[in-house]
Parts: sequence; C-alpha cells; structure tokens
Amino acid sequence: MYAALKSIGAYVPKNILTNKDFEKMVDTSDEWIKKRTGIEKRHIADENEATSDLGVKAALKAIERANIEKEEIDAIICATISPDHLCMPSTACLIADKLGIGNVPAFDISAACSGFVYALAMAKSFVESKMFKNVLIIGAEKLSAIVDYTDRTTCVLFGDGAGAAVIGGSDKKDESVLDVKISADGKYQDFLITPGCGSKYPCSQEVLENRLNYIKMKGNETFKLAVKTLTSDVLEIMEKNGLTSEDIDYFIPHQANYRIIEAVRSKMNFPVEKTVLTVAKYGNTSAASIPMAMNDWYESGKLKKGDLMLLDTFGGGLTWGSALVHFAGNPL
Ligand code: UT7
Repeated sequence: MYAALKSIGAYVPKNILTNKDFEKMVDTSDEWIKKRTGIEKRHIADENEATSDLGVKAALKAIERANIEKEEIDAIICATISPDHLCMPSTACLIADKLGIGNVPAFDISAACSGFVYALAMAKSFVESKMFKNVLIIGAEKLSAIVDYTDRTTCVLFGDGAGAAVIGGSDKKDESVLDVKISADGKYQDFLITPGCGSKYPCSQEVLENRLNYIKMKGNETFKLAVKTLTSDVLEIMEKNGLTSEDIDYFIPHQANYRIIEAVRSKMNFPVEKTVLTVAKYGNTSAASIPMAMNDWYESGKLKKGDLMLLDTFGGGLTWGSALVHFAGNPL
C-alpha cells in the first residue's frame, strides 16, 4: 500500500492589496517590490474571515475532487502559523466542526512555510502504516492578522489563502507519494520569529507597543540560507531516489521570493516552463503556498495523473523539506 495525493483544492480570498496600495502605506515602491521579490499583489481575507474559514473552503474542494464523502476522512491535519486562536482549540478542530466531521483526530502543526510538506510526511506515514485510510491535510493562513503593516521589510511580502489535499491509499507506485524529507535547525530561530504573545513574552501593553506580536524577519540572512538549503535538499532527495532534473515533470517550490526560486531552478537546470510560479499574484502565503501553487497548475489543466512533482520548501524554525509526489488526482 502506497500513500497517494488524491486531490488538490484551494481558496483565495477576494480582496487584493497591490504594490501601489503599499506605496500609500509605507516607504516603498512597486518597482522595488517587483524587482526584489517578484510580487505584484496578494489576496487578503475579510475582517470576519478567520484561518479556519479559508481552510474549510479549500478542504471542501479537495474532498469533492477526491470523489469521497467527508465521512470517509479519518484524520485532519492543519499546518498554520496564524491559527484562529493562539493556544486552543486547534484550527484543525474548528475546520472539522465546520465540515461536520466528528470523532476523528484533528490537530495543527507548526512548521511555518514548511507546514504543508511536514503534514504530507505525517499523512504518508499514517496511510502506509494503515492507521488511517484518508487524511485531509490543509495549509491555511491569514497572515494579514500577524503582519506589521508599518514595517516595510515584511508587510509587502505576505498574503492570505489556503490549500488542501486528500492523502489516501493506492497500489500504484507511479501514482504515489514517493518520498518526503523534512528537517529543522533551531539555531536559526531568530531569522523568522513572532516574539510576543506566547509564554515567553505573554501579551501585555509593552509587548503590543513594541509590536512584538507581529512577524519579524532577518530577510537577507534568510534569503541566503534558503537558496543554499533548498538546492542541497532537492539534490539529496533526487539522488536518494535515483532521479535527475529530467525525470521531474513539475518543480513546485515555496513561493517566498522569485529570486530564490530562480536561483534554485537555474542551479538545478529545471526548465522555466516546468517551474510553477504563483508568487507574483499571491505573495508568500506560508503553509498555504505550495498547495495553492499546485492547485493553480491543476486548475489550469497542466497537472495530469501520474505527473511527478518535486516540492521544495523553507521557513521559520528554521524548517525545510522536499517531496517527490506523483499526482494521483482526476482531471477537473
Ligand atoms: O517564507 C519564509 C522564508 N522567507 C524568505 O525566504 C524570505 C527571504 N528574504 C527575502 O526574500 C529578501 O531578503 C527580502 C525581499 C525580504 C529583502 O530583499 P533583499 O534584497 O535581501 O534586501 P535587504 O534586506 O538587503 O535590504 C536592501 C535595502 C535596505 O535598505 P538599505 O539598508 O540598503 O538602505 C532595506 O531597508 O532595501 C530596503 N528595503 C526596502 N526598500 C523599499 C527593505 N524592504 C523594502 C521595501 N521597499 N519594502
């Protein structure tokens, strides 16, 4: 029994923030943002939409496209750094309730932008060990709730959205999740951090005044490490599986910065037309970034059953990971 990615779905909130909008908010320009990041716009959730609302819409599509009833889902994992509530209940529990699914395990994982690939690793183990038959994995983020819109070094980068997939069983290796590799190194914990409102610096007037409840990033240091790690990670997983760049149908990297993607793509010799790029229209949506990109490719009709995708991600923690996944979904 192999684990297989049976479907993909996503939800993109309707409000849009353009680079021009940011020119009115902070000292920046459309030109700087495009040149340094490749981002042109990002989608922002409504005030009354929480992360679970975004996640549930992506999940409904993934369940429908997997041709299963929601009652057949027997575990739910939500990867997010912007949960509805700081401590409890988990966003996965809220999504389960909104879907009308009870009495199944539901929990969140915190691996920042690498969250979807971490969730995929867990789902693969659950399915292959026969503990669960169908695991719903979701990457959902309302980053606009934790972004400091007075800090030009971070606010222009992030957007909101959600993506979801159903991981089920298959007896076909050429339609399976071939391999997932996940890693972390806490020594880089201060590269990407939301310092306040946890147990170290509980929410207080001082924490809020110093804006410690928002995302802080050492952008340049993160950039350099991202290029190095993403490239070496991809090389390792391909080598372990006896594959070369030519065997990969689509490279689906985390969508943080066009320059990072381009550096890895060119080092690996992946053709441009095989590299999935959504950073221009969605910005960085952290754990939702890879499933949203995969969904775009699927909805555009490019992703076919059996296609081999290489996923590659990097984020706060620091965490990183890559995966070799044959798409096992049906055409739309
Ligand atoms: O998703 C998790 C992983 N995250 C990432 O992988 C993100 C990695 N980092 C990056 O994508 C890039 O480092 C950034 C896009 C965040 C920044 O680009 P950079 O080329 O590394 O710029 P920098 O941080 O070295 O800053 C260059 C200059 C600075 O000004 P000075 O000190 O040279 O005068 C910044 O203050 O650009 C300035 N700057 C801006 N200028 C206009 C920083 N942000 C902005 C801005 N608009 N929004």
